[in-house]
Amino acid sequence: DWTPAHFVTETVEELKKQIGKQKVIMALSGGVDSTVAAMLIHRAIGKNLHGIFVDNGVLRKDEFEKVLEVYKELGLNVKGIDARKLFYKKLAGKTDPEKKRKAIGKTFIDVFQEAAKEDKDATMLGQGTIYPDVIESVSVHGPSVTIKSHHNVGGLPKKMHLKLVEPLRYLFKDEVRRVGRELGIPDDLLNRHPFPGPGLAIRILGEVTEEKVKLLQAADDIYVKALKKYNLYATVWQAGAILLPVRSVGVMGDERTYEFTVALRAVTSVDGMTADWAHLPYDFLAHVSNEIINSVRGINRVVYDISSKPPATIEWE
Ligand code: XMP
Repeated sequence: DWTPAHFVTETVEELKKQIGKQKVIMALSGGVDSTVAAMLIHRAIGKNLHGIFVDNGVLRKDEFEKVLEVYKELGLNVKGIDARKLFYKKLAGKTDPEKKRKAIGKTFIDVFQEAAKEDKDATMLGQGTIYPDVIESVSVHGPSVTIKSHHNVGGLPKKMHLKLVEPLRYLFKDEVRRVGRELGIPDDLLNRHPFPGPGLAIRILGEVTEEKVKLLQAADDIYVKALKKYNLYATVWQAGAILLPVRSVGVMGDERTYEFTVALRAVTSVDGMTADWAHLPYDFLAHVSNEIINSVRGINRVVYDISSKPPATIEWE
């Protein structure tokens, strides 16, 4: 019978054999998959795993610091790299969603390769690839049209000549979570909503600037915290705020405002392939709207997205 405890014991043994005395480098994202994979590798080889966590400037509010703290508590050897400025520079002037994705993907590889220079003796690359990624990356290369150039699988360059270590390659998401629990990873991290690799960059429609990131981070943080407080977080598959490139007139005190609009998105889904908009309670939406408008200067209007996938997609870009 498959149990998380068995899986951990067996996988750690296999990893010890596969890796031996070699060094493994790995990019961590703060997500479930890369964290669980890193913990397994860490159990097998300890400090010979060198993790790299990049702040790409489009993470959620305080995410970089919080996640690094969790890694530290878990005993993982992870180096945090603040590359925000470089990412903003590469994103400047780009408005096309696919160009934004490509800029982020390429910049990430550059930053990772640069950081990996310090680990010249590393011969292996750890990855949190799970079974659905394996299937999806096969179909991505098939004849079908690419709607959004998603995944991070195989994103790191072959020219680094590193052998892959992928301990989760045959697991589904729910199994990954169970293994994570077995390994003592906090529930808060394990039960996170999916978050796209290009992060808030594809939730800021049009050009990404540091100022817009700050606005969206503030609004998104209010929304996500409220979902947790009202026990709605676990009832949706994914939620987040989107900053629209639209300004509209509002009034605050005696003053006329002319500021941005935020759209709130929340969907229910089983796999992200299809999704329904979540029927969040009106009083909850009213509370979030008030809090955003009253506390985030620069946003004076909040709307709720009531589109399902298909024909809409979960993200707006
Ligand atoms: P869509 O917008 O296609 O999103 O309905 C489906 C799921 O995929 C996520 N997503 C991405 N994930 N890189 C990622 O790693 C991307 O470029 C990307 N685009 C969308 C999205 O958040 C949702 O969970």
